[in-house]
Amino acid sequence: MKTVLITGSTSGIGRATAKLFSKKGYFVFVNGRDEKRGGEVAGEIGGKFIRADVTDPKQVDRLFSQIESLDVLVNNTGGIVGNDSLEKASEEDLILGFRHNFFGAFYCTQKAAGIIKKGSIVNVASICGFGVYPAGPRGLPIYSASKAAILNFTQTSAKLLAPKIRVNAVVPGYVKTGPTGLYMTLLVKAKLNPQTLVGRINSVEETASAIYFAATNEAMTGSQIVVDGGILVK
Ligand SMILES: NC(=O)c1ccc[n+]([C@@H]2O[C@H](COP(=O)([O-])OP(=O)(O)OC[C@H]3O[C@@H](n4cnc5c(N)ncnc54)[C@H](OP(=O)(O)O)[C@@H]3O)[C@@H](O)[C@H]2O)c1
Repeated sequence: MKTVLITGSTSGIGRATAKLFSKKGYFVFVNGRDEKRGGEVAGEIGGKFIRADVTDPKQVDRLFSQIESLDVLVNNTGGIVGNDSLEKASEEDLILGFRHNFFGAFYCTQKAAGIIKKGSIVNVASICGFGVYPAGPRGLPIYSASKAAILNFTQTSAKLLAPKIRVNAVVPGYVKTGPTGLYMTLLVKAKLNPQTLVGRINSVEETASAIYFAATNEAMTGSQIVVDGGILVK
């Protein structure tokens, strides 16, 4: 049975990706820091939850010590953290942003390179990594730069790990995750949906399906799949 490790799969895109890989017959190593949500996802799909903060190299060592063989790694953890403002960000904010969005993917790739015999790695980036931030003029300079780093790392690690391991990136626009209350619904309808060509932001399942495609298409390496509902073109 093929195996996949999906970092940050206790919620959002990671969780949907865990469900999809399981449906396709993979044994899934679920990862995150929240024991309760991790146990729920693993229970639901018959996988194994391994609690680890992937920004800590010691915890990454422990995570990989529990995995004997691996076919696919999905570096999914990330998001907007700290004070992501050009005027106000401190050194701590910079380190926090890069640690959250880049360091974990780097540590996991280092370890996975040692155990994947023939397989692939998918990095979850963001269209912000292309230097565009459609939500407004203030931008997200730290998040965007850390996602640009992931896109660059996808290409360099694809070269360094070929032909044994293919490495690709999936580049989402807006994905419906997190809060679903009335405020969010109105915000999505008024501000986010109109920025796309398809008229709506993407679902976690649509993003997961691109991750699965990148992981399993044997012609692809060093590539990027943009799944943004046409934001970049609009
Ligand atoms: N949602 C969007 O609109 C969007 C758009 C573009 C790109 N993306 C990218 O897609 C990826 C997933 O985003 P999402 O929206 O699905 O996020 P999410 O719902 O906030 O989920 C993040 C997941 O990562 C885990 N996590 C966070 N920090 C971790 C750490 N240090 N170690 C281990 N696990 C950690 C969280 O679980 P625990 O709480 O259990 O640790 C959770 O399972 C991110 O890289 C994000 O930048 C998202």
